[in-house]
Amino acid sequence: MPNLHTVCAVGELPEGQNGTIDVHGKTIAIFHSGGSYFAIDDTCPHMGASLSSGCVEDGIVTCPWHYWRFRLNDGAWADNPRVKIGCYPVKINDGLIQVEIPDPQPK
Ligand code: FES
Repeated sequence: MPNLHTVCAVGELPEGQNGTIDVHGKTIAIFHSGGSYFAIDDTCPHMGASLSSGCVEDGIVTCPWHYWRFRLNDGAWADNPRVKIGCYPVKINDGLIQVEIPDPQPK
């Protein structure tokens, strides 16, 4: 059973807009770009800027602080794709944007 978390209604995140959702104590950035929705970790691994505040062009978000670039479709650092941040499936169900995020593993 997928663990879906509702972000908002489809009409509440227009094309070209970004948003966030907090799940399990972590902020996830949501993007509506090129007619599709994407979800990646919001916190830039360099120094912690919010990627949802970045500019998106050609499927890549640029961090607003020091311009590291991350692909929206897989969370890879565009300049060194071996480095990746979390990337999550986005689904549309009954007019709602939902992100599939696994539960944290028990320690
Ligand atoms: S905080 Fe994102 S590039 Fe520095």
